[in-house]
Order: sequence, then structure tokens, then C-alpha cells
Amino acid sequence: MVVDRRFERDERAALFTPLTVRSVTFRNRIVMSPMTRGYCPDGIPDEAVLAYYRRRAEGGTGLIITEGVAVDHAAALGDAGLGENNIPLLAGDRAIAGWRMVTDAVHAAGGKIIPQLWHQGAMRKPGTGPFPKSATVSPSGIWGPLGRMTSIAPSFIPSDPHIGEPMTECDIEDAIAAFERCAKNALVAGFDGIALHGGHGYLIDNFLWEGTNRRQDRWGGDRARRSAFGAEIVRRIRTSIGEEFPIFFRFSQWKQQDFRAKLADTPEELAEVLCPLADAGVDVFDASVRYFNSAAFERHPGNLAGWAKRITGKLSMAVGGVGMNHGMYDKGDGAKASDDFEPLIQRFKQEEFDLVAVGRGMIGDPLWADKFRSRREFLPYIPENDATLF
Ligand SMILES: Cc1cc2nc3c(=O)[nH]c(=O)nc-3n(C[C@H](O)[C@H](O)[C@H](O)COP(=O)(O)O)c2cc1C
Repeated sequence: MVVDRRFERDERAALFTPLTVRSVTFRNRIVMSPMTRGYCPDGIPDEAVLAYYRRRAEGGTGLIITEGVAVDHAAALGDAGLGENNIPLLAGDRAIAGWRMVTDAVHAAGGKIIPQLWHQGAMRKPGTGPFPKSATVSPSGIWGPLGRMTSIAPSFIPSDPHIGEPMTECDIEDAIAAFERCAKNALVAGFDGIALHGGHGYLIDNFLWEGTNRRQDRWGGDRARRSAFGAEIVRRIRTSIGEEFPIFFRFSQWKQQDFRAKLADTPEELAEVLCPLADAGVDVFDASVRYFNSAAFERHPGNLAGWAKRITGKLSMAVGGVGMNHGMYDKGDGAKASDDFEPLIQRFKQEEFDLVAVGRGMIGDPLWADKFRSRREFLPYIPENDATLF
């Protein structure tokens, strides 16, 4: 039977409309989710890293959010389980020049690219990273409650939850200034905006979560006060980079220290967390969940990205299990590509969220965006084959 394609509905087209955020236009709504790879020798992106990101831009990705890039702070980075000194930096002439090559290549392929600024906070393994002698920093000197459900390798879990001293005012200012410096460097390197890693149990999230923030000064207390550190980073970055460039903010309920942790049990509580960040200048909330297609709160429909958008009036991005049959961290017989896109398309068309981030699918197949558009089969995501940047 011959199918007359003129009468087929092209539902995927909705995801291929451009989006302008501040002065930057993304050609479509498909985003490469930030993914640490550990392939930057001495923290400097090289030709292989350039080619890796260029392939994703050539494959039609609208926006690339880079792997986590360590901010310019001695305690930002420790062993991430991927070998020594191969997590990228964004300070110093060599790192800026390395990233400049990458951003030029992505722009030449029609894409946009922003770095994910990362400080590991309490999750940094003491005695490791580029500055092993510096103390690990966190708001209250606490790693988090022990014995919770987590997938962290035992060698990364401390035997005592008290890992150091609470950060002083001076420590806090140093960390904020490090984010600010790197944001300025990002613009020199040709990036199109800034993404902040505010989830997964790292420094900004250590302030957001009561499990790691016991402070009673202006950086702790209720939810809004626990957002003050993240909000101050956003405010300082906004002042430094001006009005043209978007700021993305990733947040998560779950923490690596505790998969069942929650910042908020209700939409009202989520508003207490996110509104100070929105007021400070966040443009897009990146709601990190394992399944984009699950309700964020009991008795309320809507996923976490949808609630972030509704609560703050800002844009939002969904992520988690797009084109994959298993969520990240799920046990089972391996994640495989899936072509069940109906829930994604329907939710997007209902304007629940504005952008869609793809993680593992995008590692597996650099042409993910183009293939999604034209309904071609994806290459598989095979973590065991992950020995090179493809
Ligand atoms: C290899 C790998 C590295 C990751 N590194 C980061 C990271 O540096 N920063 C971050 O916020 N999320 C990181 N993530 C999480 C992804 O951004 C994404 O949220 C997650 O994989 C869920 O999306 P997916 O189901 O499409 O894979 C990583 C995921 C993978 C698979």
C-alpha cells in the first residue's frame, strides 16, 4: 500500500521550532544534557573534545550543555572516578583557548553551546583533584546522612558524615567569586550563556538541601534562605555577563547521597526554593529527574519541569529517559533506545516545558536530533564501549 505522506501528521515538527532566550536563538528544542566524560587532558579541551561536540552540533542538536566544568576554586574538583585531571577547567589562557576552538566549531555547525559550571562541594573526595591539599567545602561541613539509598561506590562514601568545618563568610564569598570568574571567562571563550549545576548533591545543592545545610545565618534556615547561595551566584553572574545571555539552572529533588531526598513535597514548597532563583535572574530551569514522564508530586499531575515553569513563569527543560527504556541509575538488563515519543510530544505540545534534554541517547548517537526528526533508527548507547569520545 502506498502511504500518501502529505496527510501524515508531523507531530515532531513542534520540537523543531526555534526558541529565543534573551538575545540567543536556539534553532530547535533538542538539547544535549550535561555529561561528564573525563577526556580533557590537564583540564584542557583538545581536538577530540572539539570533534565530539561538533558531531552533535552537525547532528542537528539545537543547544549543547557541556560536561561539568570545574569552577576556578581549589576545592571545586576531586576524583570523579574517571582518572586524574581530565575534567575540564575554564580558567587560564589554555583552557579558554581550548573552549574557544570548541565553541567556534559548534557555531560553524549551526548550534549553540553553554558550559555547565560545577563545584562538587561535599561530594568532592578529600585529598584528590588538582589541589589535593585543599579542604573539601560545604555549608555545614556535612556530607549528608549516611545509609540512604545511593549508587555511589563505597570508596566515595565517608565513614563519618562530618567531613569538615562549616564554610565561613570568606569561604562562601570565594566560592561565589569563582563561579562569577568562570562565567566571565565563558563569554571570552565564545559560549552562548551559562548553566549552573545546582543539583545531584554538589555545592549549590548542598545549600538547597536541609540534609547538608544546617546553618542559621543568612545562608540557611527555611527553603528560601537555603536558596540564597544559589541566588547570589545567579545575581552576580547576571551582573557580570549583562542582559543578553541566558542562565540555565539545574536542580534535582534527588541527591547522590540520598536518591529519595526531596527539596519540596508540594508545589508550594517548590516555589519557596525556586522563586528566589528566578528573581535573581535564572531564565531556564533544568529539572533533573530520571523519568521526564512522571508526576513530580502526589495528587498533582505534571512533571518537575512543568511545575518549575508554572511556579516561576520562567522557561523550563525536561530530561530523563527521553528515547531510553531505562532511567539513568536504574538496575536491569541495560538501557536501550526506545521510540515511544508520544508522551514527550504530547506534554511538549501542551507547553508543559520548552526544551528537551537528551543524555545517554546523545552519547550513543551524535545524529540523535536529526534522526529523531526524520524517524531514523538510533545507534545504541553502550556504556561499556565508552573508552573513546565518539
Ligand atoms: C556519562 C554521564 C555523565 C553525566 N554527567 C553529568 C554532569 O556532569 N552533570 C549533570 O548535571 N548531569 C550529568 N549526567 C546526567 C545527565 O545530564 C542526564 O540528566 C541523565 O543522564 C538523564 O538523562 P538520560 O535519561 O537522557 O540519559 C550524566 C549522565 C551520564 C550518562
